[in-house]
Amino acid sequence: TRTIYTAGRPPWYDSTGQQVEPFIIGICGGSASGKTTVATKIIESLDVPWVTLLSMDSFYKVLNEKQHEMAAQNEYNFDHPDAFDFQLLKSTLQRLKEGRKVEVPIYNFVTHSRETRTKMMYGANVIIFEGILTFYNAEILKMCDMKVFVDTDADVRLARRLKRDISQRGRDLEGVLKQYSTMVKPAFYYYIAPSMVHADIIVPRGGENAVAIELIVQHVHTQLQLRGFKLREKLAHLYIGQPLP
Ligand code: C5P
Repeated sequence: TRTIYTAGRPPWYDSTGQQVEPFIIGICGGSASGKTTVATKIIESLDVPWVTLLSMDSFYKVLNEKQHEMAAQNEYNFDHPDAFDFQLLKSTLQRLKEGRKVEVPIYNFVTHSRETRTKMMYGANVIIFEGILTFYNAEILKMCDMKVFVDTDADVRLARRLKRDISQRGRDLEGVLKQYSTMVKPAFYYYIAPSMVHADIIVPRGGENAVAIELIVQHVHTQLQLRGFKLREKLAHLYIGQPLP
């Protein structure tokens, strides 16, 4: 799983008994631009106990037999908005925003399908939502308090994607290049790059941009404090990539 989370105790209330709305950060960017790295670095720097990372990958639609065959030939378009279940995505984000728990599908990139088990996620002080089309749906866009676009050069993204897809997603060189040139690249220029206009912050170079990450964290801290949230020292139980024991 690519999810980074803490065990949840939501919703969170301030000293007057008022429920504090979580701060939602939308992170958008091309495939292999470093969205997850940026999200991880934000989480590591935040002085808040409960942070949830939601990935768009969890919301890929279930494929039928014919679509599975196409996917096996690198001919199914996973970069087109139609590949995602935006309804489920919206309701999931809405529930998390309300501090309720949700069951999120776990996606398997090798089999192009959802695993039978799901992952329980909880509302949090900060919810980070990352993916290639996080700015695509107007209602989801409205839910985000801060919109971050990770802008990494196309050659860097392709190089990373080749390595990742071959080593982790069960693909071969020919297949990755075919999918990239016929679908990934066109979709980037058609859907993803134009959505940059919605960004509050554009992060060049992705995860290695420490200044941008610090600015983002500062803003989140300020906004949470304005909502009545008291920042705490980083808690020892902020686990990255694994559930609490
Ligand atoms: O992690 P990243 O943002 O790169 O994930 C999105 C990418 O995953 C898309 O560009 C899409 O082409 C790819 N994908 C895939 N096979 C799937 C699902 C998504 O190659 N079964």
